[in-house]
Amino acid sequence: MSEASAIEVCIAGTGSYLPEKILTNEELSTFVDTTDEWIFTRTGIKERRIAAEGEFTSHMASKAAERALEQAGLAAEEIELIIVATITPDTLTPATACYVQQKLGANKAVAFDISAACSGFLYAMKISKRMISSGAFKNALIIGAEKLSAFVNWEDRATCVLFGDGAGAAVLRAAGPGEGAILATEMGTDGNLTHLLNIPGGGSACPITINNAGDHLASLSMLGKEVFKHAVNRMKEAAEKVIARAGLEPEDIACVIPHQANLRIIDAIADRLAVPNDRVFVNLHKYGNTSAAAVAIALDEANREGKFKRGDKIVLVVFGAGLTWAAAAVRW
Ligand code: UT7
Repeated sequence: MSEASAIEVCIAGTGSYLPEKILTNEELSTFVDTTDEWIFTRTGIKERRIAAEGEFTSHMASKAAERALEQAGLAAEEIELIIVATITPDTLTPATACYVQQKLGANKAVAFDISAACSGFLYAMKISKRMISSGAFKNALIIGAEKLSAFVNWEDRATCVLFGDGAGAAVLRAAGPGEGAILATEMGTDGNLTHLLNIPGGGSACPITINNAGDHLASLSMLGKEVFKHAVNRMKEAAEKVIARAGLEPEDIACVIPHQANLRIIDAIADRLAVPNDRVFVNLHKYGNTSAAAVAIALDEANREGKFKRGDKIVLVVFGAGLTWAAAAVRW
C-alpha cells in the first residue's frame, strides 16, 4: 500500500526513563551460575536497570512521556492519542495506557495498549502515523515500556541475564513545511513461531493456580539460537524495504537504531545493510534487552546525544516475540 498522504507526520520530541537501580553482570553472577565474561562476549550486555518495588510499567512510561512532551513543547492535555507498547502491563486490564493517561492528566486522549513484544514501539509508530495522516488525530504519544524484571525467572541463566526495565517515548504530530517526516514503515508477523519466545502462563491458556505457582510459567521462555537466526534475517529484510521505499542508499543513512537484544545481531545487521558500525546506535551494554522500550530509549538517547540533526535520515528496525518485526525510515 502506498504511504503517500497529504499530511506528513514528524517526530516532535523523544524521552526516556531508566530506573535508578543498576544490576551488573558481576552482581548477577553471585546468585546465578554465569559470568561477566559469558554475558558480555555472547550478548554485549554489561549491566541492566531494575525497577524499584512499587515502580510499575505505567510509572516508567509516564516519566518517559513527560520528557518527550517537554521536548515537543506539547502539554499533556493537548495529546489526542496514547499508545503504550508493552508485554509487561501493570494489569491485564485495563490497559497500561489508561494509567498513563491518568498520571499525565492527558484527559482528552484515547488510550490503549498494543502487544507486539520488542516490535511494539514501531508498530505503534506505524498505527499512529496512519491515524494522524488520515486526519483522525492531530498528534499521538507512543511509548515502549517494560518491567521485565517481574517476568523473568531469576533462576534461569539462559534468560535472566538478558533483560532489563525501562521506558522510551515519542510525540508524533502533523508536520509543517520543512519539518521532518516518517518516510516509510514496515511491519510483519509470523505466528507459526510463537513457541520460540513467549510467556506461557498467566493468560487464559494457562492461568496461574495454586498447583502450578512454583513452575515459573509466567516468566519469559526463549529458544535463543532459533530466535537469533530469524532476528537477523527479518530485521535485514524489513530495514531494506523501508530504505528502498524511502528512496535511500546505505550511505544516506546518518544513524541506524536497531532493537537492543544482542550485539552480535546488531553487528550482523550493520554488515548486511552495509552501514558502518559507527553509524549504528548501541546502548544495550547499559540496559540489556528492554523489549518494546529498547528502540524507544535508543532513539531518545541518540537524539539527545546529537547522533543526527534536522534533515538527516535515520532507520529504526526491531524484532521480537510473535515472531514480529518492524522498521521505519525517518527524515529528522
Ligand atoms: O528481544 C527479542 C529477541 N531476542 C533475541 O534476539 C535473542 C536472540 N538470541 C541470543 O541473543 C542468543 O541466542 C543468546 C544470548 C540468548 C544465547 O547465546 P548462544 O550463543 O545462542 O548460546 P546458547 O544458548 O547456545 O548456549 C551456549 C552455552 C550452553 O552450554 P553448552 O550446552 O554449550 O554446554 C548454555 O547452557 O552457554 C550456556 N549458557 C550460559 N553459560 C553461562 C547459557 N546461558 C548462560 C549464562 N552463563 N548466562
